[in-house]
Amino acid sequence: MGASVVVVGSVNTDVVAELERFPRPGETLRAVEVRRNLGGKGANQAVAARRVHDDVAFVGRVGGGPEGRAVRDEMAAHDVDVALLREVPDAATGTAFIQVAAGENTIVLDAGANDAWDGLDDGERRRVADAAVVVCQMEIPSTVNAAVAEACRGRLVVNAAPARDVTDVLPSCDPLVVNEHELAVLADVVVDGPSQARSAAASVIDRGALSVVVTLGAAGAVWVTAEAGGSVTPPEVEVVDSTGAGDAFVGVLAARLAVGDALPEAIRWAVAAGSLAVQTSGTHASYPAPAEIVALLDAIVSKS
Ligand code: RIB
Ligand code: NA
Repeated sequence: MGASVVVVGSVNTDVVAELERFPRPGETLRAVEVRRNLGGKGANQAVAARRVHDDVAFVGRVGGGPEGRAVRDEMAAHDVDVALLREVPDAATGTAFIQVAAGENTIVLDAGANDAWDGLDDGERRRVADAAVVVCQMEIPSTVNAAVAEACRGRLVVNAAPARDVTDVLPSCDPLVVNEHELAVLADVVVDGPSQARSAAASVIDRGALSVVVTLGAAGAVWVTAEAGGSVTPPEVEVVDSTGAGDAFVGVLAARLAVGDALPEAIRWAVAAGSLAVQTSGTHASYPAPAEIVALLDAIVSKS
């Protein structure tokens, strides 16, 4: 088994409006800037992983026509292996309508082709089985993720974003990666801050997950396994655009696990990547190269 990372997940065209502030219901606002670019949590994670790791493949679905091809070309331009990014001719490519104002964002999704499959075909199953690390998220059908968990022989990173019940794949999660909101939904408790996050994450370990990582935005991340736990904290930074920063975290985490990092060390890399990603606008345009992450690692505090 090599050190390949395979991301199974969503790919979208992001239509991003940068705004001075969010509109109120019924209000019409002019955007400061509008752009269309590659997005989708799966695609973003694959691109983030590929920035720091040279063996990354993506499994997903685009619609037919020029938009599907444009999305595929953009992923290929990031050197992600798109041989298993398949086209669903009569579906539309997924679209995310994103508003960004003062560092915060809202996202409205039209899943399109991301919803147009219900499992893995033979080639996809083989690719998943051969990977050192496999990554999935919740913007594709849960039947696909269940097939991924079944086929995976390496390490499975499950990002429960957007929030969805992952009980069926929980015993395969190593780790499950969630933010506070997603953890609150899963654990059915209020989660506010590192200590509540750690106890809620411990309850998810009790339900079968092998490890849980909770991202806490500016506060970094906490992690829990059956035997241990810890926190990883970045320096304070100015947040310009946090869209897709969670995807940078997941992609880099997966890449570092693939090269053999222990979980706390992989989380240090992931926290550094997220911290760098929020400081510039855009998603993959803000994903860091290894040298930028390495330069920040000394400032990341890891405690068990
Ligand atoms: O996590 C950010 C991503 O979520 C965006 O790129 C958008 O496509 C949505 O899937
Ligand atoms: Na960014």
